[in-house]
Amino acid sequence: MARKEQGRIPKRILRGKPPRGEFTLGGHTYRLETILKFDFFAVTCRYRGPGGRAVCLKHYHTEPWLGWPLEWAGRLMADREVRHYRLLQDLENVPRLLGRVGKSAFAHSWVDGNDLLDQKDRLPDDFFDRLEALIRVVHAHGMAYVDMNKPDNVLVGSDGRPVLIDFQISWAPAASWGPVGRLKRRLLAMFQEADLYHVRKLKRLYRPDLMTPEERARSKERPWFLNLHRLIGAPLRDLRRKFLEWVGAR
Ligand SMILES: Nc1ncnc2c1ncn2[C@@H]1O[C@H](COP(=O)(O)OP(=O)(O)OP(=O)(O)O)[C@@H](O)[C@H]1O
Ligand SMILES: [Mg+2]
Repeated sequence: MARKEQGRIPKRILRGKPPRGEFTLGGHTYRLETILKFDFFAVTCRYRGPGGRAVCLKHYHTEPWLGWPLEWAGRLMADREVRHYRLLQDLENVPRLLGRVGKSAFAHSWVDGNDLLDQKDRLPDDFFDRLEALIRVVHAHGMAYVDMNKPDNVLVGSDGRPVLIDFQISWAPAASWGPVGRLKRRLLAMFQEADLYHVRKLKRLYRPDLMTPEERARSKERPWFLNLHRLIGAPLRDLRRKFLEWVGAR
């Protein structure tokens, strides 16, 4: 059974209720089929509706943790991701947003295929050109995708096309002027550069045969701000992993 079908579920759940058995949207009832991902922030599942139609429901948790009220965080995260999906609804390679469910969940259309982490077959030759073109269109919408270092956020449709999901930490700043506007534009350009670096890196990991030696060498050139992030982020990530292992949630 593919990892995707088993779900990415930690040994112990630190926060958040298990997914609802069913939900209603637009007068139709959808029933839980598979848990895909369950963590501290959200639970993401596949449901089946009328005529066996598959949809994906991402439900951000609103439950408190260690007595801290966190309902606001669940709502905020759902609002943020829904806003990003809305901005990209004219793109074919982004799932359709089907609607909000309750305070902190939303449904989007299911994409038949795999995510890159589960992909076993060789990717089509034009996959990464299409992925780069897709990222550039996302950028043209005033957004940086940001989460491209996770291969499970890039789907490979059963027809071989790339599809992007998971826009939680994407960034599409509202226009502003003066020094604040300049700073935002500079940061946005940096994040967009990082997106393109990650496309090159994924191509090197999955289809290095399509790259010249020069392209492979270039794909290893990390932008300086990613090196800085690694310097600060890696020890923090190790600390988080150790903590999760210690409490039995990994
Ligand atoms: N519309 C979809 N079609 C097909 N598969 C999907 C869809 N949405 C999500 N998935 C699958 O569910 C997984 C989890 O979804 P998503 O990335 O949105 O959750 P997440 O909680 O943000 O995960 P993470 O925080 O680890 O990135 C994806 O990696 C993918 O395998
Ligand atoms: Mg994800």
